[in-house]
Amino acid sequence: MKYLFEKFLIAADHGGLELKEYIKKNIDVDWQDLGTYSNESVDYPDLSKQLVDRMARGAVGLLICGTGQGMAMSANKNSHIRAAVCWSSASTKLARQHNNANILCFGGRLLDKEKALKYTQLFLSTEFEGGRHARRVDKFSENF
Ligand code: RB5
Repeated sequence: MKYLFEKFLIAADHGGLELKEYIKKNIDVDWQDLGTYSNESVDYPDLSKQLVDRMARGAVGLLICGTGQGMAMSANKNSHIRAAVCWSSASTKLARQHNNANILCFGGRLLDKEKALKYTQLFLSTEFEGGRHARRVDKFSENF
């Protein structure tokens, strides 16, 4: 499958490890795995920082924890990050089309693996629509 993005950074905590491994094994994109690598309990903000620190302009990433929420909240502390927790095709597509999301977040304990893979492929192949959505996204940095 052909994607809009060539590089894909991936990280997870222990709650997202299993799903991370499944997605790595099944996605046909050039991914880079930034951890975690074992079931040992770790702190999700440390993993989201690993990934956010390596996000070049125009890059995209995937963060997985138990619910996806902690990863999204911590990643979004950074001004150039727009991390979205996605749980369906529509939430994934709209996160790209309307919010220009650059990080996809999953709940590894909440999401079916095959569906998560499908949403990942959708995320990597959906364009930002720009226009009125660009004006709104620009206000993230103007307003806060
Ligand atoms: C870890 O137990 C869990 O809190 C974490 O994976 C995540 O769900 C936090 O948002």
